[in-house]
Amino acid sequence: MSRQPKPMNPRYFPEDFQWGVATSAYQIEGAANEDGRGPSIWDTFSHTPGKVVDGHTGDVACEHYHRVEEDLDLLVALGVNAYRFSVAWPRVLPSGRYPVNAKGLDFYDRMLDGLLARGLRPHLTLYHWDLPQALQDEGGWANPETIQHFADYAEVVARRLGDRLESITTFNEPWVVATLGHEKGIFAPGLTDRRLAMQVSHHLLMAHGLGVQVLRTIVPRVKLGIVLNMAPTHPARLNAVDRAKAQLEDGLLVRWYMDPLFRGHYPQDVLNHLGADAPDVKPEDLRLIRQPIDFLGINYYTRNVVHAEDPSATPPGEMGFTDMGWEVYPQGLTELLVRLTRHYNPPPLYITENGAAFVDRLEGDRVHDVERVRYLETHIGAMAEARAQGVDIRGYFAWSFLDNFEWALGYLKRFGIVYVDYDTQRRVMKDSAHWYRDFIASQRIWQ
Ligand code: NOJ
Repeated sequence: MSRQPKPMNPRYFPEDFQWGVATSAYQIEGAANEDGRGPSIWDTFSHTPGKVVDGHTGDVACEHYHRVEEDLDLLVALGVNAYRFSVAWPRVLPSGRYPVNAKGLDFYDRMLDGLLARGLRPHLTLYHWDLPQALQDEGGWANPETIQHFADYAEVVARRLGDRLESITTFNEPWVVATLGHEKGIFAPGLTDRRLAMQVSHHLLMAHGLGVQVLRTIVPRVKLGIVLNMAPTHPARLNAVDRAKAQLEDGLLVRWYMDPLFRGHYPQDVLNHLGADAPDVKPEDLRLIRQPIDFLGINYYTRNVVHAEDPSATPPGEMGFTDMGWEVYPQGLTELLVRLTRHYNPPPLYITENGAAFVDRLEGDRVHDVERVRYLETHIGAMAEARAQGVDIRGYFAWSFLDNFEWALGYLKRFGIVYVDYDTQRRVMKDSAHWYRDFIASQRIWQ
């Protein structure tokens, strides 16, 4: 008897869908001066008075460097089948370039073995913002030579770790690196120069392209891609000035990165707006940037609402705001995914980050983070809706596995689905972690 085909219900996810959690090196590892690690721009920045709230630094963070085995067991308790993490460039190449620090690579080597032994699929990010300080001293991302240093670093990592990886992401959120780090000055390296920031964004994209070229030859089996932070940008009012502002903001955030990656040029309206602040771009740069990639990672948290005259105008916030002051707006994820698919025909998508900071209270061994549960549930629903509309999504990673160092906001903002008591380093699964585990398990039952 022939078997009936399974009815396709787009609300449920295929068996090989990857459910994971995400972290980054500087935010969780700690052990900043151990085993030969060199300083990064975030060590310098966080140790500069006034840059991070209450003078917090990543020196100790979640002590993940020393607790990695315990943390990998916790991943098993969460029931995830994938894990997204980043490698600290200054652990592997303390001065940014050769020689290699063997102990730094050994740490990730052990972590990968630990992940595979537990049946977890490893997704590695090469650059999650921790540039070796020695390279910053030579100009950092403003210096085009950093592009080659990045490609060398990518090669070192891939040769040692590439045999066990599911994917490699070149860059996490280049917009944040360029704009918050080099124009607004609120992230490392703390510069405030728009022309430089735009040149940096171009160099980051070139480094992505060169990195992909190099990685292809070394690890042809590993999926290669980039992770962008994106959001729909809506006008506060439906008038011409707000619409024009929204169009430009979208150009700077979404099209500035998507157009060169997938269409081979920068958006003309944004170039016109930038005028003399536009980067120097050669035709061969654009060919380099537009490398075929295997996936696009999307970090989604909220939407942007822009008001031409009043930059502090707040969005309606019908579903409330997170502790970051970000509007909870799950339908923006559907809107974004559908738009990207229609306009760019991108490779398969992953939601590489999605999550929320809320004020958590530890009560015994429980944290009743109902708002975070609701956030995750509604955003996974929004992702399912995009799938129903034909978007090809292969995985979802909650940000974050653990509470951690939230950059300029230090440890004050908690994004984890696992609570970290920083006095004792005890980890406690929040209700959202229990919910996520049960949700993933329920997906298996429904197959
Ligand atoms: C995106 C970044 O990749 C991550 O490092 C950060 O903690 C989250 N957004 C939350 O702000």
